[in-house]
Amino acid sequence: MINYLGTPTLKTERLTLRRLVLNDARSIFDNWLSDERVSDNRISPAHKVVSETKERVANIVNQYSRRDYCYWGIEISETGELIGEIDLYNFDNKTENCEVSYSLGYHWWNLGYGTEALKTVVEFGFSQMNIHKISAAHNTDNPASGKIMSKVGMVQEGTIRHMIRNAKNQYKDCAVYGLLQEDYLKKKIE
Ligand SMILES: CC(C)(COP(=O)(O)OP(=O)(O)OC[C@H]1O[C@@H](n2cnc3c(N)ncnc32)[C@H](O)[C@@H]1OP(=O)(O)O)[C@@H](O)C(=O)NCCC(=O)NCCS
Repeated sequence: MINYLGTPTLKTERLTLRRLVLNDARSIFDNWLSDERVSDNRISPAHKVVSETKERVANIVNQYSRRDYCYWGIEISETGELIGEIDLYNFDNKTENCEVSYSLGYHWWNLGYGTEALKTVVEFGFSQMNIHKISAAHNTDNPASGKIMSKVGMVQEGTIRHMIRNAKNQYKDCAVYGLLQEDYLKKKIE
């Protein structure tokens, strides 16, 4: 059974993964959601005005009362800067599987933060929540995302052609990745 724990604060070497609050909307808008370099790799379009972000954050904050809701802001512990987001979603109680997604502001790419955050959330999902399998997909023209999946032990299972149609009306092929709890835990004790 999945052991739902809500969205507790998780610490990594350099990061604090924490619940979002309404006051974060401005940073979220400025740091990643209004930036097409980020949104081009996501399904939803970049936000044009901060009110869109406020609405989205309010929606997230409202769901923190649910135990089966896992949505973290990614903050640099030393500076307090909010640089991105990561979530576990699509929990399926029958299979006990879920998916993970994440985004970081462009300014903080290629500094290892994505790997650090994903590693921590995968560890939380398998060791604390007892998830059976964690999956994710990335556009094939966004290899950095596949790289961080590989770095935390996720394995590419295939490529799905035209899996999504983005905000610019472009179809994208996606590489799908997954990691089983049993493989993760086996590797951990090896
Ligand atoms: C995907 C994303 C979260 C990665 O975060 P990050 O903090 O930059 O990742 P890391 O620094 O931990 O690792 C990135 C790795 O990708 C590699 N990389 C970067 N650009 C690459 C490219 N064009 N081709 C191949 N590898 C690339 C880096 O070299 C690094 O690997 P290394 O540590 O072995 O050198 C970030 O780029 C992002 O938010 N992108 C926009 C939103 C997005 O893509 N979300 C995911 C949707 S599936």
